[in-house]
Amino acid sequence: MEDLSLHILDIAENSLNAGAQNIRVLLIEKNETLILEIDDDGRGMNEDILSKANDPFFTTKEGKKIGLGLAFLSQAAEETGGNLKIERRTEKGIQIIACFNKNNIDMKPLGDIKKTMRVLKASHPEVNFVFEHIVEQGDPA
Ligand SMILES: Nc1ncnc2c1ncn2[C@@H]1O[C@H](COP(=O)(O)OP(=O)(O)OP(=O)(O)O)[C@@H](O)[C@H]1O
Ligand SMILES: [Mg+2]
Repeated sequence: MEDLSLHILDIAENSLNAGAQNIRVLLIEKNETLILEIDDDGRGMNEDILSKANDPFFTTKEGKKIGLGLAFLSQAAEETGGNLKIERRTEKGIQIIACFNKNNIDMKPLGDIKKTMRVLKASHPEVNFVFEHIVEQGDPA
């Protein structure tokens, strides 16, 4: 995938498939780090699914043998020296946290995230999407 906005579209699709009513996309930039957080209030994952979700040969989609969305995002993060975490939210749903090193040569461009959010909202008017982009004051070099 060329840019992060396409990964976001893909990960949001997972949340929609899980029946989420609320999906929040948060970008936090601080110094050389960029954190992408996607939270949903969908059906969540049990321990078994959680432990396999990142595996490209795991999916719960019927008739499919591979599930690449999380594996690709994980790879994109790892290529910059970062990582991907999948956590269960205490209330309901899943939180995806991808950590990137922005200065790494393999860092993908952000792409048009606002457009991605508009497309998601337009195609799922019943779902509440929130997007926030926070640039934190960096430490002096
Ligand atoms: N937000 C989520 N809530 C609940 N389950 C999820 C969520 N995201 C992923 N999953 C589970 O993890 C599996 C793997 O997700 P992943 O995006 O990697 O592949 P996929 O959605 O199955 O297939 P693909 O993304 O290639 O179309 C899913 O099949 C689903 O069972
Ligand atoms: Mg997917």
